[in-house]
Amino acid sequence: MLKISALAVLAVLPAFVQAQSAVYGQCGGIGWTGATTCVSGSTCTVLNAYYSQCLPGSAASSSTAAPSSTTASTSTAHSSTAASTSTAAAPSSTAIAGNPFEGYEIFLSPYYAAEVTAAAAAITDSTMASKALEVAQIPTFTWLDAVAKVPNLGTYLAEAQSLQASSGQKYLVQIVIYDLPDRDCAALASNGEFSIADNGLANYENYIDQIVDLIAQYPNVRVVAVIEPDSLANLVTNLSVPKCANAETTYKEAVTYAIQQLNTVGVYMYLDAGHAGWLGWPANLSPAAQLFDSLYTAAGSPSFVRGLATDVANYNALVASTPDPITAGNPNYDELLYIQALAPLLTSLPAHFIVDQGRSGKQDIRNAWGDWCNVLGAGFGTRPTTDTGSSLIDSIVWVKPGGECDGTSNTSSPRYDAHCGLPDATPNAPEAGTWFQAYFQTLIADANPAL
Ligand code: BGC
Repeated sequence: MLKISALAVLAVLPAFVQAQSAVYGQCGGIGWTGATTCVSGSTCTVLNAYYSQCLPGSAASSSTAAPSSTTASTSTAHSSTAASTSTAAAPSSTAIAGNPFEGYEIFLSPYYAAEVTAAAAAITDSTMASKALEVAQIPTFTWLDAVAKVPNLGTYLAEAQSLQASSGQKYLVQIVIYDLPDRDCAALASNGEFSIADNGLANYENYIDQIVDLIAQYPNVRVVAVIEPDSLANLVTNLSVPKCANAETTYKEAVTYAIQQLNTVGVYMYLDAGHAGWLGWPANLSPAAQLFDSLYTAAGSPSFVRGLATDVANYNALVASTPDPITAGNPNYDELLYIQALAPLLTSLPAHFIVDQGRSGKQDIRNAWGDWCNVLGAGFGTRPTTDTGSSLIDSIVWVKPGGECDGTSNTSSPRYDAHCGLPDATPNAPEAGTWFQAYFQTLIADANPAL
């Protein structure tokens, strides 16, 4: 993914002299015309049909860029990690009552740090480059958006555990569970690797099992997870979209499985709850609360489900100084208002929240509230902190790793979504999740607070 950044900027290079892809660079996938081999020390790994990436090491699962199913490799990985869990101490079975972020250092995602470091190296302006490097020190969440990325989590947990041992500080690893079958049912940009029609639920359960097996090996490292961005919100408002209607039962079963299993290894979980401009509309609040409550209760009220995550990968202010004109008609025009309106409607799900502010630094930049794709002029926002100003909010977080793309603007891509071609979307955007150097540089330039 990264290579798009570094190389695309240098990528006045004609295609026929394209070098090998850098670590984390794209190296294959439908529509990809760049390099298909990786620099030494990394291996081209198929993440999904649209995207192969140079991952560090010599991955066992895949060594070529040809898009293919990852199912085969997943079935073996699960059983191989299961054996080692027997040596691990039992994870705590009781969730703490308080804020799981309190008293913990957040482990910096090496994946994002590597993306940012390479991006900084591609910036010629030295002031901008040093600001870019500051971003590598700001914690983001690691998105497990493909089963091939799950083994990275084992490495991070091991690193967090040794940091914990050497520093005496307690560490917390932040992840996003994001691999539902028929993912992103109301849009195209983030369609994923599993399909409901093709064994999707079983593949998803296997993905969850692999994550659980890894986490079980590090019971002393705290893990916080955002569960499946957009999925339940789509079930609240987008059942008129046939793909969402078809996915409803599977999404519920899959999310239930995820929270039950992650609960067994003590992962503190926040279900994704869209944002103020989605579920925050007055007509959507009660249906949303009912869905969250009923799913949580039917799952057996897993004690490590701490609450809800809002504004993931979006741009809303936590507290807007004035309502953005695009929010007209919604009294809940910022995330705090949305959270304050939703919380009292929850009858069983705990009303604790985390709020993504990673790209919310600059306001009043959208033409419509529903515009979500690489919005032009966005800036990095408030840094992660537990000093949130509201007892409902555990932490301000950066869930979306700023600089990773929301979706391609290439109209011929199978994952082209029209939102990514709107006038307020940044042009020349690569595939979702891959590095978007120009966008990263705008986020730095428009950061508020400034970098
Ligand atoms: C993409 C994922 C990516 C995530 C974070 C989503 O839009 O679909 O692949 O991991 O954003 O950048």
